[in-house]
Amino acid sequence: MLHGKVAIVTGGAIGIGAATAKILAAQGATVVIGDINQQAALQTTEQIRSADGHALFQPCDVRNEADIQALVQFALEQGGLDIMINNAGIGGQPAPLHLTENHNWQRVLDIDLTGVFWGQKYASQAMLATGKGGAIVNVASIAGVGGSPNLGPYGVAKAGVIQMSKTGAIELASAGIRINAVCPGWTETAILEGFEPSAHERMIRSIPLKRMGTPQEIAELIVFLASPAASFITGAEYIIDGGITSM
Ligand SMILES: NC(=O)c1ccc[n+]([C@@H]2O[C@H](COP(=O)([O-])OP(=O)(O)OC[C@H]3O[C@@H](n4cnc5c(N)ncnc54)[C@H](O)[C@@H]3O)[C@@H](O)[C@H]2O)c1
Repeated sequence: MLHGKVAIVTGGAIGIGAATAKILAAQGATVVIGDINQQAALQTTEQIRSADGHALFQPCDVRNEADIQALVQFALEQGGLDIMINNAGIGGQPAPLHLTENHNWQRVLDIDLTGVFWGQKYASQAMLATGKGGAIVNVASIAGVGGSPNLGPYGVAKAGVIQMSKTGAIELASAGIRINAVCPGWTETAILEGFEPSAHERMIRSIPLKRMGTPQEIAELIVFLASPAASFITGAEYIIDGGITSM
């Protein structure tokens, strides 16, 4: 379904991004992974290649504007840019907002908000230049939908990502560029490693489906939104959380 398309996945080395890169490649896309974790990213590209997919790695720290510009340029050199998945993100140090350290606030905003802004900005410019339209999926979180106690900077950044997706979607709809946000709930990835086992148990108890999501489940939704099957969907925020936000 995605043969001939070129896709970028930021933070595609592990977790939700790696699962997304694998499905995109399995559907025929050439996937460019941009990440700071070179070793894991190369492992993921190798796994994709050994399954007969096309994958490349371009080092990219989303805190650096020039890295993102180079990532987009690298994708264009592979034949174009049809799909941009702005997925790279961190959780930050858990603390209530009134005790959040300024450097933690800034670090989370730099990666989770400004990094997505640059990803959306330069991918949009590239898609406008090719004139073929495209699809951008920004990975937000349910933390950006409601209040997110002890994850203040993260929630603020993710709320910003949802807003940025909607604004860009309206601005670029006439150019055939669709932009959507995916809002996962708790998902089994390394991002949760900092939490105590008791916190994991509390999280699972709070989920109506009584388990966390898998990276594969989140990735399936991301790829659907990036694919022609979602051709009438833009400016939407998709919650995928095992039912938490419906409570
Ligand atoms: N796991 C969850 O429960 C959950 C819930 C909601 C939203 N999310 C979001 O999903 C996305 C993926 O997270 P994950 O759970 O797969 O986490 P993860 O820690 O497994 O993967 C994050 C990836 O981003 C990369 N990354 C981190 N900082 C980077 C930077 N500065 N530049 C480039 N790459 C960088 C990491 O190297 C890694 O490959 C994030 O945006 C996260 O906020 C995760």
